[in-house]
Amino acid sequence: MVKPIVAASPILLELSDLEATRALAGRIASWVRPGDVLALSGALGAGKTAFARAFIEAFAKRAGAPTPEEIPSPTFTLVQVYEFEDCQIYHFDLYRVDTPTEVYELGIEDAFADSVSLIEWPDRLGALLPGDRLEIELRDGATENARQAEITFLGAWSDRVTEIFPND
Ligand SMILES: Nc1ncnc2c1ncn2[C@@H]1O[C@H](COP(=O)(O)OP(=O)(O)O)[C@@H](O)[C@H]1O
Ligand SMILES: [Mg+2]
Repeated sequence: MVKPIVAASPILLELSDLEATRALAGRIASWVRPGDVLALSGALGAGKTAFARAFIEAFAKRAGAPTPEEIPSPTFTLVQVYEFEDCQIYHFDLYRVDTPTEVYELGIEDAFADSVSLIEWPDRLGALLPGDRLEIELRDGATENARQAEITFLGAWSDRVTEIFPND
């Protein structure tokens, strides 16, 4: 398999608290377009779902839609779908997926075609994980509420680094 080309080194960001994580999610939500895939990795409790919640809230605002009343973690449902006028968001949590092919039942083909996908535990997809993706890895930071984000633009995303991080 051909490996995607990494055009930019990963961007490292220090997120001092939950608000900083939410701000990052909001910033990225303002740039996404249908078909985009965001892979959210990191250990349990790293903040993947917190990131996804802020992302979905910001996306709703951008779409002029009301904030979804509830944005549950898809821990057991494996996927939650949010409908907006022009686009849907698929929020996956694949922790409990054993074989990549199980995810076809969750609608990944539709998600990857023309929706926005937020994927927790993206490694579960194996070779089904699209080469064109934004990878966000969250790690522990210096304090309890601090995190470090490592953001990697892969494949077609590599042209978009300066769109999202014009000054970095
Ligand atoms: N800077 C931060 N970024 C994200 N979450 C944070 C941060 N600081 C504290 N938290 C808390 O850490 C927890 C992360 O949980 P969650 O998002 O469910 O993790 P995951 O989905 O990665 O398992 C939440 O309770 C959140 O409020
Ligand atoms: Mg989670």
